[in-house]
Amino acid sequence: MGAQARAVCSLFFLLRVLAKPAEDSDFSLAGDYLLGGLFTLHANVKGIIHLNLLQVPKCKEYETKALGYTFMQAMRFAVQEINNRSSLLPGVRLGYEMVDVCYTSNNVQPVLFFLAGEDYLLPIQEDYSHYVPRVVAVIGPDHSESAMTMANFLSLILLPQITYSAFSSKLRNKQSFPSLLRTVPGAIHQIEAMVQLMLHFRWNWIVVLVSSDDYGRDNSHLLSSRLAGCDICIAFQESLPTPQPDQEVTPQERERLKAIVDKLQQSSARVVVLFSPDLALRNFFHEVLRRNFSGVVWIASESWAADLVLHSLTELRHTGTFLGITTQSVPMPGFSEFRARHAQARPRTSNGSATCNQECDTCLDTPQSLNTLLRYSSQRGAYNVYAAVYAIARGLHSLLGCSQTGCPKKVVYPWQLLQEIKKVNFTLLGHRIHFDQYGDLPLPLEVVQWQWDLSQNPFESIATYYPMQRQLECVRNVSWHTASGSAPVSMCSKNCLPGQKKKAIGVHSCCFECLDCLPGTFLNKTADEFDCQPCPGNEWSHKGEAACFKRRPVFLEWHEAPTIAVVLLAALGFLSTLATLVIFWRHFQTPMVRSAGGAMCFLMLGPLLVAYLMVPTYIGLPTVSTCFCRQTFFTLCFTVCISCITVRSFQIVCVFKLASHLPRAYGYWVRYHGPYVFVAIMTTLKVAILSGRLLITTSSPTTLTDPDDPKVMILSCNPNYLQGLLVNTSLDLLLSVAGFSFAYMGKELPTNYNEAKFITFCMTFYFSSSVSLCTFMSVYKGVLVTILDLLVTVLNLMGISLGYFGPKCYMILFFPERNTQAYFSSMIQGYTMRRD
Ligand SMILES: *[C@@H]1O[C@H](CO)[C@@H](O)[C@H](O)[C@H]1NC(C)=O
Ligand SMILES: *[C@@H]1O[C@H](CO)[C@@H](O)[C@H](O)[C@H]1NC(C)=O
Ligand SMILES: *[C@@H]1O[C@H](CO)[C@@H](O)[C@H](O)[C@H]1NC(C)=O
Ligand SMILES: *[C@@H]1O[C@H](CO)[C@@H](O)[C@H](O)[C@H]1NC(C)=O
Ligand SMILES: *[C@@H]1O[C@H](CO)[C@@H](O)[C@H](O)[C@H]1NC(C)=O
Ligand SMILES: *[C@@H]1O[C@H](CO)[C@@H](O)[C@H](O)[C@H]1NC(C)=O
Repeated sequence: MGAQARAVCSLFFLLRVLAKPAEDSDFSLAGDYLLGGLFTLHANVKGIIHLNLLQVPKCKEYETKALGYTFMQAMRFAVQEINNRSSLLPGVRLGYEMVDVCYTSNNVQPVLFFLAGEDYLLPIQEDYSHYVPRVVAVIGPDHSESAMTMANFLSLILLPQITYSAFSSKLRNKQSFPSLLRTVPGAIHQIEAMVQLMLHFRWNWIVVLVSSDDYGRDNSHLLSSRLAGCDICIAFQESLPTPQPDQEVTPQERERLKAIVDKLQQSSARVVVLFSPDLALRNFFHEVLRRNFSGVVWIASESWAADLVLHSLTELRHTGTFLGITTQSVPMPGFSEFRARHAQARPRTSNGSATCNQECDTCLDTPQSLNTLLRYSSQRGAYNVYAAVYAIARGLHSLLGCSQTGCPKKVVYPWQLLQEIKKVNFTLLGHRIHFDQYGDLPLPLEVVQWQWDLSQNPFESIATYYPMQRQLECVRNVSWHTASGSAPVSMCSKNCLPGQKKKAIGVHSCCFECLDCLPGTFLNKTADEFDCQPCPGNEWSHKGEAACFKRRPVFLEWHEAPTIAVVLLAALGFLSTLATLVIFWRHFQTPMVRSAGGAMCFLMLGPLLVAYLMVPTYIGLPTVSTCFCRQTFFTLCFTVCISCITVRSFQIVCVFKLASHLPRAYGYWVRYHGPYVFVAIMTTLKVAILSGRLLITTSSPTTLTDPDDPKVMILSCNPNYLQGLLVNTSLDLLLSVAGFSFAYMGKELPTNYNEAKFITFCMTFYFSSSVSLCTFMSVYKGVLVTILDLLVTVLNLMGISLGYFGPKCYMILFFPERNTQAYFSSMIQGYTMRRD
């Protein structure tokens, strides 16, 4: 044994002398297997004096903590119950050693005491796998920080440690704390419950106050990272000053507290989340009470959510509503009586010990503190201690391989027990006890409201949070301490109206202005609350709307006056063309008809009639078939007509010249029915153009927006009307220019043959109307374009039927004497003589 080891041994020898446990104390019970219990029966603020004194703190100089007493009794109760029961560990007697850890002041001595063997020696060994310490498992302590300190020691021999109220998420790390388990869910669940509570009440503008220690820092960090993904903003965060051990408020501390409360008072946030150990909060709340402060919702972390000392500041009720997250209160049959009985039985006092564990004289022996305890203190949290004892007992039961009637009392090594405890899976008072992979027991958490009405439970449960489902359920009525009695609003900015986008002010996403969406845009909240999106093509919206509406379709309708006028005009044109057809048919052999083109006249009149018949396709809702008719038949008929007229004027003017100058060409022209060939070629050309166009664009109706009235959409056959018109009329325009030129050349011909005037008139009209239509379309897009297009086309048709055929019908009907061969011969002779 080295010198160092000898020194350790001597230390423990000393310990042993000092720490002779008192018989028949609340703090120890002899048994086959001992459990270690660590509870805070006395407390003072942290940071403390004794750390620079080489002494175990004197418990009775501290204040008593009733909650720790309840927890301790819960452990005693559980051990007694297990010993009394024959089903669990039959024949085995569990014992315990309990130590008052005095909050965080007394961490190391108790753990050395537990690790040492029966002989108070803790040997230094290479391998502890066959080492048997005083206790087989440790329950506690309550605070995360002391739990971590002790876990560092206990993991040396993998001694199972089950804490009952340490929430820190650092304890989840099983690499650092391999033998640490706990009967509470981790801090992330506490945070989650808080956040869901805020979401439930639509609070999105909160203040976070934290203690200046690991507890405050860790929890505020967890909260900020949880809030990163949701629309809750932290207006500001402050850390509370750590109080002096003597609870005296120093001037600096007072200044700091004043500044924090000032800031709180000025903020528009009405919800304050407070992560701090209970002891650090008294000075703060005294400062709050000095101000007239009301309407705040205080959200308590588990560390002070059920703290009777703070609750006893009854004036706090005027400052607002207190909500807290805490462990569930599970009623344990028989526990209330057990606790009361033992509180009355005054425990034996003894001289001080090395572990601060045998002094309960100031615990709870005064009637006043006993009354307080029993009146207020619920069994909240006691179940977590109770469950920890049962988990150890179950583990031990299976490790020993107990039968129905008895257990072999083997030597138990802690690491063996740890493995068994990790595997336990049983139901205890309606809750399943099974540690998850992080050693946590996901028992439900409760949201409680503080009440000061004496008849009521001071910590009334209003909701339950289930860690497995990560779900806050069943939020019951909260009695709000506000002027209106309704839940306070804590928002940086009020919600925008449905059709308003948010414009951020500053860095917080919860603070924004609301701006109306512009016309033609809408707000899709699920996609982006900060930007309005444009409506789809055929939809529109008014200013500040959350949805777009379909634009009203406009097209030529039958009942409108311009439509009726054009249709009447077209009907007139159709009837007159029909009449012309009949007249020409009847007088087919007369010179007048033959001079007008003979059979070719019918080639013109037929398409004209068809074109008139196509007029109705321009009216009504455009469909694929009407668009097809408009884009093909109509213009095709027109082309046939115009090419007939052109070839006719060519024939009149140039055939003589052709005959004299190019007799061979003339021969072909006559032999192969030149005019018909020409018309056929033009028609084919036009068909080719139309087919090409149909292949490129479609003939299904499209919609155009009207820049002057965005609420309507123009239904049209052409996505680009002007382009369509140009393609359609290009050939016709060329033909009309050609026809015009020939007619102009032939203006000298005898009047009978002189259709030149009319042809000039028709062609000029056609040409100029097409050009002006194109010009009009290039500047204006609306339904007026359709009606103008139709009107111009009908007028052109009428120009041909009345302008070209009209005078001839007139002659045929009213001057039959001029419709003779003789008259025509005389006219030609007269013309020839004049030219000579
Ligand atoms: C266990 O049994 C003893 C003796 O019968 C009794 O005094 C004690 O109250 C019992 N404890 C529990 C917790 O049932
Ligand atoms: C708080 O209000 C009470 C009465 O309502 C008043 O007497 C007291 O001066 C106020 N205190 C402060 C700090 O404003
Ligand atoms: C404490 O111990 C001393 C001697 O060791 C003894 O005289 C004294 O009576 C004890 N006090 C109590 C309260 O037991
Ligand atoms: C615990 O036991 C219950 C009931 O026997 C079973 O449904 C559950 O799956 C068990 N859990 C695990 C983790 O083994
Ligand atoms: C909650 O409050 C409403 C209205 O005040 C009341 O009708 C209802 O009964 C209350 N519910 C509970 C569970 O107290
Ligand atoms: C809004 O945006 C969501 C997500 O981008 C999308 O699924 C939804 O269809 C949109 N709603 C409307 C009306 O555009």
